[in-house]
Amino acid sequence: MPPRFRPIYTLSRFGAWTGGLWGLAALAGCSGRQSALEPAGRGATDIANLFWGMTVGAFAIWLLMVALTFYAIRKRRDTPGTQERRSRLLIVGGGVVFPTVVLGGLLIYGLSMLPPLLASAPPGSLKIHVSGEQWWWRVTYQPPGETPLVTANEIRLPVGEPVEFELESPDVIHAFWIPSLGGKMDMIPGRRTRLVLEPTRTGTFRGVCAEYCGASHAIMAFDVIVMEKADFARWLDEQRQPALAAGAPENPLIAQGRARFFANGCTACHTIRGTDARGVIGPDLTHVGSRLSLGAGALPNDIDGFARWLTQTDQVKPGVLMPHFRMLPAHEVHALAVYLESLQ
Ligand code: CUA
Repeated sequence: MPPRFRPIYTLSRFGAWTGGLWGLAALAGCSGRQSALEPAGRGATDIANLFWGMTVGAFAIWLLMVALTFYAIRKRRDTPGTQERRSRLLIVGGGVVFPTVVLGGLLIYGLSMLPPLLASAPPGSLKIHVSGEQWWWRVTYQPPGETPLVTANEIRLPVGEPVEFELESPDVIHAFWIPSLGGKMDMIPGRRTRLVLEPTRTGTFRGVCAEYCGASHAIMAFDVIVMEKADFARWLDEQRQPALAAGAPENPLIAQGRARFFANGCTACHTIRGTDARGVIGPDLTHVGSRLSLGAGALPNDIDGFARWLTQTDQVKPGVLMPHFRMLPAHEVHALAVYLESLQ
């Protein structure tokens, strides 16, 4: 090999190795309950297949290019006539025919996947209306022929059934994305967008906001629980019940917490069905204690989590509308936390 090609040769070898290693390292992080590469839904499976098709295609082209580079470096110089013919062949073959065939093929493959991803759910399917708020999720279940049910920050779905999501936002643009189940969709003020998801296996997954929407964009997640159909129907029935059955025996601390909830004006923003709390600015709290997390994925759902949320809303979620309540005495915060956690 001529000495002037030696640095290119060394660089190419280095590039080949590090490229492969980086690729493997990046893929090693792509698993878990928020992974598009571990699909649990029909759309996500199609998208993962498209990803692997594109990746294998890109890898094959990369290998070909590396092989051509080595060949060019090691090859002896052609006579001028042959050189011209080969150059023309390389430009027409490698610069026009090859990319047209490969990119055309990948484009057809990608486009052929769009119709099923954009298809609407069959009539009579469960509809779920989700509104992206700053920075949480207002979720309204609309089972066909039944009254709507409002919850927040957690979505439960029956396995094996297409569900139609109607997506909206009152003020800023968000994007609704459950990587394990399917593609993402923008939530645009003044417009209603739709997304059909069909979970293919049960499990707990994580949804996120995929569009920068303000200070707490990164603290705007939700749990997605895919359940057997019968379990889902039972859960929906339980969610329809008011917070506490009338006449149920009650812990005095819970009664105290509820009194403080009303005394501190929490009812102006929050609804707790079965009580006089009917505010609609913040999340519905009727069964808040039964959710997997607090503050849209910000804190664990336990008494300490509630106490931390009440006293440090501004630190847990910068820019949030809900004021903090650090001015309250500790025993009052504790009673409030015990009450909220009891709302199962
Ligand atoms: Cu909502 Cu980002």
